[in-house]
Amino acid sequence: MSILRIRTFVLLTSLFFLFITENRAQFTTYKTGTLLIDTEGDPVNAHGAGMLYHKGKYYLYGEIKKGTTWLVPDQSWECYRVPASGISVYSSEDLVKWKNEGIALAPTSGNPSSDLDTGNVLERPKVLYNSNTKKFVMWLHIDSKTYSYARAGVAISDSPTGPFTYLSSMRPNGNMARDLTVFQDEDQKAYLFYASEDNKTMQICLLSEDYLSPTTRYKRILIDQHREAPAVFKHQNRYYLITSGTTGWSPNKASYAVADSIFDNWVIKGNPCKGKHADLTFFSQSTFVLTVIGKQNTYLFLADRWDKTNLANSTYVWLPLKMKGQEPVIRWRKRWHIPDN
Ligand code: GAL
Repeated sequence: MSILRIRTFVLLTSLFFLFITENRAQFTTYKTGTLLIDTEGDPVNAHGAGMLYHKGKYYLYGEIKKGTTWLVPDQSWECYRVPASGISVYSSEDLVKWKNEGIALAPTSGNPSSDLDTGNVLERPKVLYNSNTKKFVMWLHIDSKTYSYARAGVAISDSPTGPFTYLSSMRPNGNMARDLTVFQDEDQKAYLFYASEDNKTMQICLLSEDYLSPTTRYKRILIDQHREAPAVFKHQNRYYLITSGTTGWSPNKASYAVADSIFDNWVIKGNPCKGKHADLTFFSQSTFVLTVIGKQNTYLFLADRWDKTNLANSTYVWLPLKMKGQEPVIRWRKRWHIPDN
């Protein structure tokens, strides 16, 4: 080959690789363990988040963490708090570009006896769409600053972006409710999963047909296992529940449980996270598993990397969850993007 040909070859090869890299860069979405940036260039503020897919768009709902973190005195555990600043909502068509849609559920101030008072706790919002009532229903953990109130709150809206109208809070069937999530089955029945009984045992409660209240049908699961941060998904007709241990804002080992039907026995299997730092869920805590539309074996695992002494500084760990047969597997990836997962 002549020198000229070699030069041309090298030039074309470099251009080709530059093109590939540039294109990938455009699509690269998740720098795991960092803040997500919205379409305005601001950090996404949506912690303890949940997602809803509705009419071609994904909606992300989360706790707004801002302000100074303080330690509630005289507690037997590290009760770090920021003022409850309400629930944010973002929308995206591709899970990549997130548009800030504002505050879905606003807090109130000056009345500590109001559930939504900034002095209380508003955590882990999850939203469902009820196709019969055509309403969007939000469930969230409502608590006092010492976490002794232990209730599930419910709010309703005509639009996925809110504003949501707060209805009430309750202890389902008289049982405590802290970390929670919701799950809507293919038959449109919806269930509330919540850490109960002083976080020792989890419970699942069937929601009413309008999704606005708990029914009397409920089951105790993971009895005396001390699990929280529930995230539920369904794969090939089996139900999977990922939870964390109960170490407050500090990371611990996740585990998953499986059931053949919602009110069946949930069998604890083990840690879905694999590899380095898997025992600390890659320094994060589960909050949601998204069924990505159009993907067969891949789900999106959403977790929070809490910064307990500066909660507003907390970031996100979003990773692909892949099904290897009947086993969910989550591996650390520093940088990845959804189309390639
Ligand atoms: C965690 C829980 C968080 C928050 C925190 C308070 O265990 O998952 O959502 O409530 O405790 O310390």
